[in-house]
Amino acid sequence: MSAKNGAIKLVAGNSNPALAREIAAWLGMDLTKASVRRFADGEVFVEVQENVRGADIYIIQSTSAPANDHLMELLIITDALRRASARRITAVVPYFGYARQDRKAGSRSPISAKLVANLITHAGADRVMTLDLHAAQIQGFFDIPVDNLFASPVMVRDIKERFDLSNVMVVSPDVGGVVRARGLAKRINAPLAIIDKRRERAGESEVMNVIGDVAGYTCVLIDDIVDSGGTLVNAADALLANGAKEVYAYITHGVLSGGAAARIAGSKLKELVITDSIQPTDAVNKTANIRLLSIAGLIGEAISRTAAEESVSSLFD
Ligand code: R5P
Repeated sequence: MSAKNGAIKLVAGNSNPALAREIAAWLGMDLTKASVRRFADGEVFVEVQENVRGADIYIIQSTSAPANDHLMELLIITDALRRASARRITAVVPYFGYARQDRKAGSRSPISAKLVANLITHAGADRVMTLDLHAAQIQGFFDIPVDNLFASPVMVRDIKERFDLSNVMVVSPDVGGVVRARGLAKRINAPLAIIDKRRERAGESEVMNVIGDVAGYTCVLIDDIVDSGGTLVNAADALLANGAKEVYAYITHGVLSGGAAARIAGSKLKELVITDSIQPTDAVNKTANIRLLSIAGLIGEAISRTAAEESVSSLFD
């Protein structure tokens, strides 16, 4: 496949080689030969083993755990390609780590998402492609174009195949996620409920108030990130206590750190559906009630349209 003005090439870091291979297969091309490895002291070393002069290059690298190593790989690959005279470099970061640090949360705290944006830009990226950014305004942390893709078309397809939509209620597990959940509810023409978490007094446990009548419904929780799994497990308990028939969750980024997979396995969630924006661990792969949806086709199509200078937003109309 070729771009409007020159060859397109895909380069993969070590964060999610399976996704990179799938995207390459979807585009009908091979990954560019490159070696991304460590010196004995842990420093990242990159060697691009084919000519990339004048090419339109897409680096596929989520900054998932170990976040700092994967971020450093992305920066160094970018530097290597810039120095090898690539024409245009797009950092394809399906999971953009540090996104939850998008504001000064307290006195003397950093805005790490902005620092990461600066690092990617200064390393030499011309544009960024990412998926379900935790906060859409992070796009404004960059002075280069950012395409924030949405996993919702992939999720909607699965939900439509799976459920009797007349009995589905979409649920946002917290007030911050309402816009995202409402968008998906609209696409499947389903009602929306919201969980309002409140700690009445310091030291007391959180009260989960369900806004909306979920009794008898199949509830589908929608969120961008599942990390410890605590939010989802508590939300499932609250929904069932309020009469929900069963609870499922569709979450874009399966961060699933620490004992999260075991927490999901032991929860009342019927199923957690995540995408492959982050390469699943063995523990995640072995968890019976966690299922993966691939976003390779979505990213492949967005790369193909970017290369051809066609609209990407129309993918989500
Ligand atoms: C928070 O704003 C995010 O959208 C997720 O709800 C949160 O990161 C989930 O974290 P955990 O799984 O640790 O409860």
